[in-house]
Amino acid sequence: MARKFFVGGNFKMNGTKESIKAIIKNLNEAQLDPNVEVVIAPSHLYLPIAVDAVTASTVSVSAQNVYAKPNGAHTGEVSVSQLKDLGLNWTITGHSERRAGGESDENVADKTKAAIDGGLSVIWCCGESLEEREAGNTVAVVEKQLAALAAKLSGNDWKKIVIAYEPIWAIGTGKVATTEQAQEVHAAIRKWLKAKVSDAVADKTRILYGGSVTAKNSKDLAKQPDIDGFLVGGASLKPEFVDIINSNQ
Ligand code: G3P
Repeated sequence: MARKFFVGGNFKMNGTKESIKAIIKNLNEAQLDPNVEVVIAPSHLYLPIAVDAVTASTVSVSAQNVYAKPNGAHTGEVSVSQLKDLGLNWTITGHSERRAGGESDENVADKTKAAIDGGLSVIWCCGESLEEREAGNTVAVVEKQLAALAAKLSGNDWKKIVIAYEPIWAIGTGKVATTEQAQEVHAAIRKWLKAKVSDAVADKTRILYGGSVTAKNSKDLAKQPDIDGFLVGGASLKPEFVDIINSNQ
């Protein structure tokens, strides 16, 4: 099953109007692999600027998070309908930095379902801590997160899901997972999807790796059979992001 390569750029709480416009200008002018789907996720404040600035046909704009409930008395939150109102088609959910802030597996699943029901596609994040890995619990942790998600999704919902496996110990640390470590967990995720959801969902769902991805390590990671792309943090703010996008050539 050929899965379209996918590279997301999670800008996190970084950037200014000018720096984000400059990143997007670089992407618009770059020779991007036409067979790679690209999504960039600036902070909420800069989403309108990003939507207006992107001209590259393979690049879309995503939110970094969304609230599970519809518009209303939810101070400081952003709803699915507000993202759609801006013309967005993507959001990230369940990033470990938000789970660390108190988002439970179920809360992440609820907002993911709400996003899909409201017409968004979702980059759903999962991953284990260093302690969980060292205890040999990596796959169990990711399977628990997957089970909470699957409990809320119906069959067709999975068409709107891209999974991002991001080992917490690799995020922002420079300690990228080895190709073997990443492939092992990606294969376990696909095996779980096959057993618990369906052969088709397992075959079609893109599974991204995230955690200290750079232009130096992305080519080898991209060669792994169950790595369908990346969710990139720090390097997405740099010119090397183009090389990461083109790393599957
Ligand atoms: O969402 C992607 C992010 O968590 C990875 O961050 O800086 O390690 O690429 P970074």
